[in-house]
Amino acid sequence: MSDKQADDQKHYMTLHDNVTGESWDLPILEGSEGPRVIDIRALYRDSGMFTYDPGFTSTASCQSSITYIDGEAGILRHRGYSIEDLAENSEFLDVCYLLLHGNLPSNAEKSAFEHDITHHTMVHEQINTFLRGFRRDAHPMAIMCGVVGALSAFYHDSTDIDDPQQRMISAHRLIAKMPTIGAMAYKYYLGQPFVYPRNDLSYAENFLHMMFSTPTEEYKVSPVLAKAMDKIFILHADHEQNASTSTVRLAGSSGANPFACIASGIASLWGPAHGGANEAVLKMLNEIGTKDRVAEFVKRAQDPDDDWRLMGFGHRVYKNYDPRAKILKASADEVLAELGVDDPLLEVAAELERIALEDEYFVSRKLYPNVDFYSGIILKAMGFPTNMFTVLFAIARTVGWISHWKEMLADDHQKIGRPRQLYLGETHRPFTQLEVREQSTAPSSSVDGANNGWSWLWGNKTRKIDNM
Ligand code: SDX
Repeated sequence: MSDKQADDQKHYMTLHDNVTGESWDLPILEGSEGPRVIDIRALYRDSGMFTYDPGFTSTASCQSSITYIDGEAGILRHRGYSIEDLAENSEFLDVCYLLLHGNLPSNAEKSAFEHDITHHTMVHEQINTFLRGFRRDAHPMAIMCGVVGALSAFYHDSTDIDDPQQRMISAHRLIAKMPTIGAMAYKYYLGQPFVYPRNDLSYAENFLHMMFSTPTEEYKVSPVLAKAMDKIFILHADHEQNASTSTVRLAGSSGANPFACIASGIASLWGPAHGGANEAVLKMLNEIGTKDRVAEFVKRAQDPDDDWRLMGFGHRVYKNYDPRAKILKASADEVLAELGVDDPLLEVAAELERIALEDEYFVSRKLYPNVDFYSGIILKAMGFPTNMFTVLFAIARTVGWISHWKEMLADDHQKIGRPRQLYLGETHRPFTQLEVREQSTAPSSSVDGANNGWSWLWGNKTRKIDNM
């Protein structure tokens, strides 16, 4: 929306300072759907005050047309299409085209896009050597952070962000190469040879082939696994202004090249409160072990003095069932049945969900299963080790990150992201020489405001991590 449209709308919120008696009229902007926003861009200039919103619980950081979420109703749409329709009727590359270009592709557009992506799946041969600098037991996400960031050292010819052609080539390169690099990280961890991509396979088939084939025998990609993989990629493709996407936007706002920006998104996604939760869910289900121990852990999750948390539950936006979790739950039953896998953890997960959805603590806080709750069970059944779960999330989310990066660069509202703060530190004080400091008995103030170590807030739970 242009600033002029906002003015013409003449919708204002009046802010009143009841100490000084001053008031300010702040324009209200309205999108095509979802909450209206109060435009505070002139607030500091006019009032000398900042707004305060750590964690951005009530802040719209940008305008976007890519993804719409209604957390109360459990709605997720990409460019107006519901996630249920896309998961049911599309392939992942259709959704990639939709996120990047705004519409589902025609036949000709789809073939051209598939050709472009397929023919960018190989990585520079030097990356094979580069990757060998890691220890064999390096976490695959550490390798993803390092190798994807290093891609800007290999593809200088697509780092000029002012050239639309180079922006598109880097987008194609990233979408195409993430599965190759992810599979290389896995093979390196196993000590097996890297498997080159094949142009005769679909995106999901190619990834499974690079992950699980070996030179010693023919590997036939299971159509069931390929379909499940493609659906999992679709469900993880984009999700509005989540932590990792906001990280990519902030990195991109300084003009950083796309490879470095996506590496910053990978780093943010790795956290257990975000994309790292799928790996944490499997660890949690294994810790619970059996159905009969579920109630004990549901109680622990509510104890403010116990930092044990129900991973895969709760969401900043969804205060209803995450629509992706519903689809994944149905997919989990399908895949496990098709594979003849009888995983007791599925039973533990179902019992955990049943009890939590009846428990006042979870009901009152609107904590429902999120995308990570069932994805781990399917991925485990498909043969992925838990330390690869977040890599799969990163592979899928790359198209979301790069679509937001592209949108941000084209947005005339966008500036370099530079938030301010509420300062709580020392006011000005004269310098004290060492000998004077030696004499004073007062202990030095703890820099982080906590009495010892860093405290890491998980809602009502604080997790004290010793001085890092
Ligand atoms: C993803 O943003 C996105 O869109 C992310 C994502 C995407 O596609 O990009 O959807 C992917 O990251 C999904 C979320 C995966 N993370 C987890 O499953 C980790 C477990 N969940 C939480 O840590 C938590 O729910 C968050 C981080 C997801 C959301 O945190 P918020 O919005 O900051 O909420 P909060 O921590 O303030 O919680 C509100 C209350 C607190 O209790 P009170 O202070 O009111 O007493 O709910 C409690 C919390 O203690 N709570 C939980 C809980 N989640 C929240 N209590 C126990 N177990 C939980 N899982």
